[in-house]
Amino acid sequence: MPETPPCRVLYMEDDAAQARLVQKCLEREGYSVDVALDGLAGLGCYGEKPYQVVVVDQTMPLLSGLEVIRGMLARGPLPPTIMVTGTGSEQMAVEAMKLGVSDYLVKDLQGGFIRLLPLTIGRALAQQRLLEEKQQAEKDRKRMEQELFQAQKLESIGQLAAGIAHEINTPIQYIGDNHHFLQDAFADLAALMSLGDRLLEAAKQSKIAEDLVRQLESKRNAIELDYLTQEIPKAIRQSLEGVERVASIVGAMKEFSHPGCQEKQAVDLNHAIQSTLTISRNEWKYVADVNTDLDPLLPTVHCLPTEINQVVLNVVVNAAHAVADALKARQQTRGTISVRTRRDGSWAEIRVEDTGTGIPEAVQSRIFDPFFTTKEVGQGSGQGLAIARSIIVDRHGGTIRFETAAGEGTTFIIRLPIEGRPSPEASTPAASVAASS
Ligand SMILES: Nc1ncnc2c1ncn2[C@@H]1O[C@H](COP(=O)(O)OP(=O)(O)OP(=O)(O)O)[C@@H](O)[C@H]1O
Ligand SMILES: [Mg+2]
Repeated sequence: MPETPPCRVLYMEDDAAQARLVQKCLEREGYSVDVALDGLAGLGCYGEKPYQVVVVDQTMPLLSGLEVIRGMLARGPLPPTIMVTGTGSEQMAVEAMKLGVSDYLVKDLQGGFIRLLPLTIGRALAQQRLLEEKQQAEKDRKRMEQELFQAQKLESIGQLAAGIAHEINTPIQYIGDNHHFLQDAFADLAALMSLGDRLLEAAKQSKIAEDLVRQLESKRNAIELDYLTQEIPKAIRQSLEGVERVASIVGAMKEFSHPGCQEKQAVDLNHAIQSTLTISRNEWKYVADVNTDLDPLLPTVHCLPTEINQVVLNVVVNAAHAVADALKARQQTRGTISVRTRRDGSWAEIRVEDTGTGIPEAVQSRIFDPFFTTKEVGQGSGQGLAIARSIIVDRHGGTIRFETAAGEGTTFIIRLPIEGRPSPEASTPAASVAASS
């Protein structure tokens, strides 16, 4: 097994004898020590190879300890760094702590600090390890969160796929029917035109071509020219609309399933909402009419578009489920889902209001909890709102809350900082309940 290389320490000290003593002492403890006899030389060594620990004396010629630390900071984050000061210069040590050094030792005449140094270095290294572990844990958490978002997105796409296929199939069918009609109509028109040509030829030769006139007239009647003149443009228009519809569904699908950019960007929220409503149409169209009131003056919002799409989808699908449940109880045939956007100062607000069941008081405090669901197995996994909250609050510094009235419906209110800056408002409570509930 390869041996772990010794921990490298850079010791900056202008007193050569003391530096030698410290070097020996640290080498006995298993460290590999380089000594620099002034600040400038120290900074030179620091730039040449990586050190796990740096020990800096405050009082040195050319550059003071503090200046050296500033120079090190200019090159990036400090490794564990210990400041050594003479008695009376504790103020300097405080300054150094502010710059981010791990610890400081006061030099005493008896050289006691030399005995303390290995202990202090050990502590600084342990602190550094803890910090790195914390950073790694945070990185792992972020990666897992990202994987969870991705998994939920793929799951949603899977669930939506059948509905989207259906949505595409309807326009494709009428585009097909229209094209069959246009094919037949063209054959009729071609026959009529050929008779017309023959008649023209006869007319040019000044022959009376009464039979041709009759044939043309009867063909004209047989193919119902007036009807075709009206219907052909309609069929063309309808087919073009169908093509546009398919293109918009495919476009929305592409936007939605995009792997997702890690960088926030300027997003047209109204467009994102339209796309999400397009791909989720099959989820709500049998139970609800969706009304949109999207503020045309809403500026672009600095956010992660695919994640915001996912939030809107989760909230709209929940609204559709709540409406479907309410219809069973109320013997009605359709409910309403209203989606609004507006600007409120430096915030963009999205409201999704439904005429569903409302959220019973007993579960109101739990709906944002991961895996909390009131739906049957296979219908809901309870992740939709937990993910929505994490996206809105943690990733965008926004808020998500609801107002609900039992038996009347629920409104989810999502607020995002337009400039994408987190704000203290992010800590407002997640739920607020309408007075009527
Ligand atoms: N608009 C709403 N009206 C009534 N109840 C709601 C509404 N939105 C959410 N809920 C309640 O909150 C619970 C949690 O919602 P959430 O979206 O997190 O999970 P889910 O819809 O049950 O499952 P998933 O979204 O993972 O498929 C739901 O089970 C439901 O009880
Ligand atoms: Mg849900």
